[in-house]
Amino acid sequence: MSIISKDIQKAISLLSSDKLVAIPTETVYGLAGNIFSKTAIKSIFETKKRPFFNPLIVHIPSVDILNDIVSHIPEKAKLLAEAFWPGSMTLVLKKQSTIPDIITAGKDTVAVRIPKHPLTLQLLKQLPFPLAAPSANPFGSISPTKPEHVERYFKDAIGQVLDGGACTNGIESTIIGFENDEPIIYRLGALAIEDIESVVGKVAIKNKKEVSPDAPGMLERHYAPTTKTFLTDAISEEIKKHRGKNIGVLTFKEDIKDDSITTQIILSKKGDMHEAASKLYDAMHRLDHQNLDVIIAEKFPDFGLGKSINDRLQRATFSS
Ligand code: TXA
Ligand code: MG
Repeated sequence: MSIISKDIQKAISLLSSDKLVAIPTETVYGLAGNIFSKTAIKSIFETKKRPFFNPLIVHIPSVDILNDIVSHIPEKAKLLAEAFWPGSMTLVLKKQSTIPDIITAGKDTVAVRIPKHPLTLQLLKQLPFPLAAPSANPFGSISPTKPEHVERYFKDAIGQVLDGGACTNGIESTIIGFENDEPIIYRLGALAIEDIESVVGKVAIKNKKEVSPDAPGMLERHYAPTTKTFLTDAISEEIKKHRGKNIGVLTFKEDIKDDSITTQIILSKKGDMHEAASKLYDAMHRLDHQNLDVIIAEKFPDFGLGKSINDRLQRATFSS
């Protein structure tokens, strides 16, 4: 039997009395509450200023309790769960009647995932209820990948930020729904589409307009810095257009030599997309706190995690 740390004991006690705790996961930090506590769930929505029509993800410790949450598991969902849980994948499945409507925004489906962070897995195993946990950021803003990001957003509003260090994957889980038992991607994320296809064959990506506003993770502008942000595959030309302003530049691996840049962050000098994804939001947080006039971000190669990173960068921009 593993020893329960003081931090986890505190989290158990807060969560068991309808309070919220920010929890680390391998993707981003979540703002967690007991799925069966009306008080806790209402305060998740209030704290995030999140509209009630946007459903929450249910976090569970193991597949053993999946049948308590969902009423039907398509064959391909079983294969995906076996391959990728615990991990950065959320499945949207038909819900059990015991799952409260406020969690699913009245839908007959529920989003569920087993996260991979050891602290949060240990916490979930100790609790007699699953945790609803949206990303721990105000609605529409940059998701948190470090405890200090959560503290900056919600300093006094929540009981505890369970410190699990920096998130190793750094962007949200990939969300997969099912239509006629066939998987379809609702949100690109930390699990690359190629990995999913290696298990279940070709999968479609749901058209943004069809999903929105049901899954606001798919809203056009989301994950956004307050600084005006541009996404480009011609970075030097874009920089020229903004000469004279305070310019922040965000690149994949290239070091841009240009005197008109105020500050530059290179996400992975060795060109590793996983490293780049893990650092993406922290870089956006940092650039957003430097009083820049503009942030110019470089488009990633459009495959693997690059596709998911481009999706987030696209949603961080005002237009294009
Ligand atoms: O990595 C993650 O998924 C993180 C960590 C904390 O687990 N959580 C996260 O939650 O990103 P959130 O609430 O920020 O995003 C959940 C997305 C939303 O876009 C929501 O609309 C969608 O999941 N969603 C939840 N339930 C759904 C359902 N029944 N049908 C379709 N989309 C659903
Ligand atoms: Mg979110």
